Amino acid sequence: MALLSVLTPVLALVLCMVAGFLFLKSRAPETSPGVAGQTKGPTKKEFRPWADQDLQDDTEITRGDDDEWVENNEEEDLAHVPYSPQRYPEETMLQRAKDFYSLMSQRRSVRFISPEPVPREVIDKVILTAGTAPSGAHTEPWTFVVVSDLDTKHKIRLIVEEEEEVNYRQRMGDKWVHDLARLRTNWIKEYLDVAPYLILIFKQTYGILPNGKKKTHYYNEISVSISCGILLASLQNVGLVTVTSTPLNCGPQLRLLLKRPANEKLLMLLPVGYPAADATVPDLKRKNLEEIMVAI
Ligand SMILES: Cc1cc2nc3c(=O)[nH]c(=O)nc-3n(C[C@H](O)[C@H](O)[C@H](O)COP(=O)(O)O)c2cc1C
Repeated sequence: MALLSVLTPVLALVLCMVAGFLFLKSRAPETSPGVAGQTKGPTKKEFRPWADQDLQDDTEITRGDDDEWVENNEEEDLAHVPYSPQRYPEETMLQRAKDFYSLMSQRRSVRFISPEPVPREVIDKVILTAGTAPSGAHTEPWTFVVVSDLDTKHKIRLIVEEEEEVNYRQRMGDKWVHDLARLRTNWIKEYLDVAPYLILIFKQTYGILPNGKKKTHYYNEISVSISCGILLASLQNVGLVTVTSTPLNCGPQLRLLLKRPANEKLLMLLPVGYPAADATVPDLKRKNLEEIMVAI
């Protein structure tokens, strides 16, 4: 009896602690198994299935062993040279602005591509043009893999379709699938076999110098995205079509297939060619100037 009266407060205390623990656990967000601090089983607001697991922006990459990294200021001093690009009279400027807008406003994402061959030299120049993009500290953190080999294109298609089917059926969620329905896209990507060229754009999350040391690639994702924009404009300029695609969660498999190093991550896949004779596009409208510009 004496023992029971001693144990009762202890028992009550233990019960209170268990109840408190259960209460707090029910309120706390679950953490993902792999990454500390990241939420799993997110609420509706947090659900972002399009955020590719492989494609975190690594600009703040953990440097680990400092000896592996080179300090950029170890590089040679750079000469500065005069720069005087062509200047146009105002009416020519306006005409050129109108002409370029007219060209670019005809750009559409085309998912029906002709197998007709495209001169390789044109593709080379288009990629050279993409390489004129600005980049963080002029690191040029891009690799454009141009695939025309039939067997490799087919392997890419198999990888993409397999992942995309899982994306559509399981990962994307009802809202995203619903939003895409009107574009009539699905996981069947015939253009990956048919298009004469597939251009896979990789961002280099860091550079590797000839001496094996690593070099920081500042803002690599923004830099490569700008370069992709210039690539799209260049394709439009030569009368070729493509569809901007970001094959969700296919990056690691495609990187291995294409034998790219571990510092490279797939950002975009562009099938390139002439449009198929019977190609159609969704009848989308673009926002007008007042909707996209704020003048202050
Ligand atoms: C970052 C990004 C990712 C995209 N991913 C895909 C994709 O995976 N598959 C696809 O068919 N279209 C994709 N698109 C194309 C868009 O659906 C298309 O740009 C949009 O519907 C507007 O049409 P437009 O390009 O003809 O103006 C993507 C576009 C962007 C900018």
